Amino acid sequence: MQLDGQLVKQIVKLMRVNRRQSGPFTYTVPSPDSYPYQWFWDSCFHAVILSHFDVSSAKHELLSLVHWQFKNGMIPHMIYWPGLEKGGQFPTIEGKHYQSIHWGKRHTSSLIQPPMLAYAAWRIYLVDGDREFLAGMLPPIHHLHNYLLRQRDPRHHHLVGLIHPDESGEDNSPRFDHALHMRSRQRIEENYRRRLRLIERYRTVRFVVARRMDRAHWVRDVPMNAILVENLRAEARIAEVLGDIHAAALALERAERVKQAMRTHMLSGCMMYSTYGLEYEPIRMKTWAIFAPLFAELLTRAEADELVRGHLLNKREFMTPYGVPTVAKSEPSFDPMGFWRGPTWMATNWFIYVGLRRYGFDEEAEAIARTSRELLGKSGFREQYHPVNGDGMGATNFTWGGLVIDMDSRGLRHRHQSHLPV
Ligand code: GLC
Repeated sequence: MQLDGQLVKQIVKLMRVNRRQSGPFTYTVPSPDSYPYQWFWDSCFHAVILSHFDVSSAKHELLSLVHWQFKNGMIPHMIYWPGLEKGGQFPTIEGKHYQSIHWGKRHTSSLIQPPMLAYAAWRIYLVDGDREFLAGMLPPIHHLHNYLLRQRDPRHHHLVGLIHPDESGEDNSPRFDHALHMRSRQRIEENYRRRLRLIERYRTVRFVVARRMDRAHWVRDVPMNAILVENLRAEARIAEVLGDIHAAALALERAERVKQAMRTHMLSGCMMYSTYGLEYEPIRMKTWAIFAPLFAELLTRAEADELVRGHLLNKREFMTPYGVPTVAKSEPSFDPMGFWRGPTWMATNWFIYVGLRRYGFDEEAEAIARTSRELLGKSGFREQYHPVNGDGMGATNFTWGGLVIDMDSRGLRHRHQSHLPV
């Protein structure tokens, strides 16, 4: 199925309207009204979208991100850009501005988001074969992966830990209820207040995550680690193109270690569960995260079959008219209007789409691409959508809908090729 020209025009326009400049840097804001800054994984999605029609802007998007890399390798999940601090309409709670979370450099947050950088850089390279661009990207990518595998895995278990729900990119997902000591039915304001309190706590230790803070590494999250595996493989591809065989071998070795650790500590039947605390207590909950391992090909064929047939296509769980809901209907926490507690989001649809393609579930992938396009047609470029009636919710002029441009069967093999070593 191909995208119609009208939709492509809308995406090109939205990406242009949301583009911002700061000195020599350009980047894209996810939504001018609600999210007027730069976000880490959003920028990686933007790069994937832009690679379809404006490869130069796609490169700038990533270059503006890596410009803010901390000395220790971390790349912050929010960059406010100088001059913007007072301009945004970011919510405040108890008089505290969320954006005033500083550590190290000014103008940024001190949290991470799922590391999609290497994947995005590789996708750009597939378009124009620019080795010079790749050569500039490899050091920051390597540095970021070093940070994650060293600082965020103090016990060397090969699993990256989150110190805050927002690091998953799914702020109020029920996967973090246990860690936040919250019930499955809850008020979003209370969830937000607890997340802010956690930030305050980390601020007192300057966000330095050392062994003594190991307890704070409460959640080893499935999407974060699956995405890391895939990005380590993309790093290996990049290093290989640049002739750095040692870096390529190291990245592959690391990808394999994380994969094995995920299988050891997270796999239960055909599903991988995020874990809590030092003893890897499984967070047995069906959220879209159970499908994230498809993206990194972490499951066997038989496991993937069971997962897709038993859960993705299950009407009591994830099969809805405008899916894929971020939380299964069967979960007590399911709330179709609850931000990350049920609505359909375009980025999670995209991850699932790519994963399904990789395992050859072409029909199921097509169905997701189709409902994603239908959602845009029915409700426009919104932040999330009601999985049952397709109503749009949250931010407007939100960029993630642009990912449908990447859920198109043209040039598919090339784009969604496996990153597994041959
Ligand atoms: C919300 C989302 C997060 C995203 C940000 C900007 O906080 O939960 O994933 O990066 O908005 O779009």
